[in-house]
Amino acid sequence: MKKQFYVNGEWKSSEKYADLYSPYTKEIIAQIPQVTREEVDQAIDDAYNARNQMAALTAYERAAILEHLVQLFIENREKAASIISLEAAKPMKFALGEIDRTIETYKFAAEEAKRLTGEMIPMDAAKNGANRFGYTVEQPLGVIGAITPFNFPQNLVAHKVGPAIASGNTIVLKPASQTPLSALFLAELIDQTALPKGAFNVVTGSGRTVGEAIVESDKVKMITFTGSPSVGIGIRNKSGLKKVALELGSNAGLIIDKNVHLSDIVLKCVTGAFSNQGQVCISLQRIYVMDELFNEFIEAFTAATKQLVIGSPLEETTDISAMINPDEQERALSWVQEAVENGAEIVTGGKIENGVFMPTILTNVDPTLKVSCQEVFAPIVVVNRILSIEEGIAAINDSTYGLQAGIFTNDIKTAFKASKELEVGGVMINDIPTYRVDQMPYGGVKESGTGKEGLKYAIHEMTETKLVVWNQN
Ligand code: SIN
Repeated sequence: MKKQFYVNGEWKSSEKYADLYSPYTKEIIAQIPQVTREEVDQAIDDAYNARNQMAALTAYERAAILEHLVQLFIENREKAASIISLEAAKPMKFALGEIDRTIETYKFAAEEAKRLTGEMIPMDAAKNGANRFGYTVEQPLGVIGAITPFNFPQNLVAHKVGPAIASGNTIVLKPASQTPLSALFLAELIDQTALPKGAFNVVTGSGRTVGEAIVESDKVKMITFTGSPSVGIGIRNKSGLKKVALELGSNAGLIIDKNVHLSDIVLKCVTGAFSNQGQVCISLQRIYVMDELFNEFIEAFTAATKQLVIGSPLEETTDISAMINPDEQERALSWVQEAVENGAEIVTGGKIENGVFMPTILTNVDPTLKVSCQEVFAPIVVVNRILSIEEGIAAINDSTYGLQAGIFTNDIKTAFKASKELEVGGVMINDIPTYRVDQMPYGGVKESGTGKEGLKYAIHEMTETKLVVWNQN
């Protein structure tokens, strides 16, 4: 029950512990060390001291460590998934899906470790460049501080740990307070690999103590953070000259054109809106349907939503379980109430039953209401009618966020128009905005963040380009 944290290849106890509760049963599932400032500083020192050894590993060695980790995850697939399910209330089928993605993420990281190259510079293209031979190399930064969220406690950690190891960096990881068990399980697996001691460290506890110590340390050269815009902006403001990559929230939107077959689309929309109880940065939050199809879509979408199985995350048939904590459920409920008081209609859901926030569809929602214009991070989706594609694009762009957006259309000109005009980091043509595979560039514009994840792109963020010029004159 009483867990230890992992620093410099050793398991350590702390003076203070906090109870960790199951979001579904509300039972205590573990006691988690609340690491002190001094203990975080020690972890950073250990990561700093390990940086030269880590940077000296060959690409072959870094890839071999990651391939070993892949193997360990394959062997521990069910166990890793059940930890996610227990601490985050992610239904088992989605937790298993997350572990399958985690395996793929580390596989991509192993492959990218072998492809980390610089480029030749055509020095003699300049008047003063004759007889010079120039090239770049990508060098690791040193210590990476990783602060990760609760919603994908293995795969979003893999998106930071994988590229950091692939590019020869060391890591101090602060997992979300609600999901430390997955990060500590990762440490158990990494401990079995040949990764140098001190290259990977997990410090658990509060954002205020642990997160601040990481952000304020001069020895940490980059912060990679996934979480809310307010925390992300705070991190950027405190980070000085550190590199900062921020994967923040969104209120992802989808346009449904009038010429499409709804039978292909409805189930995708259910998955996009309600997977992991809507606690996904690219969860489908706003759907704009052309007038001609609006009634038919609402009917089919509502019927499919009502088929979702509600219950314990540990049951393999469950589609929807509890949100991460009761406060979040109450917050989501108050947003629905605000919408209803301002003219929105609940088509289904809009209430908490047996501790679970029911999948909720709202229509006639004014764009200024929280359920539309803020990140809802709950199983709530807004479906509104549009009279033109231009109206849909303008509605999606009328947001402080811009992570991903989608459009279903059979008109190639409309698809090109949407890909050009939607102000987001990624446009999904004929798919939901929730679509992601782990090697693709992933990151937003506006308050959705800065920098890209996806192994190759994250590695680029985690390295410094050094130029070497040989003078042959
Ligand atoms: C996120 O919530 O930012 C990640 C979504 C995903 O990886 O599918």
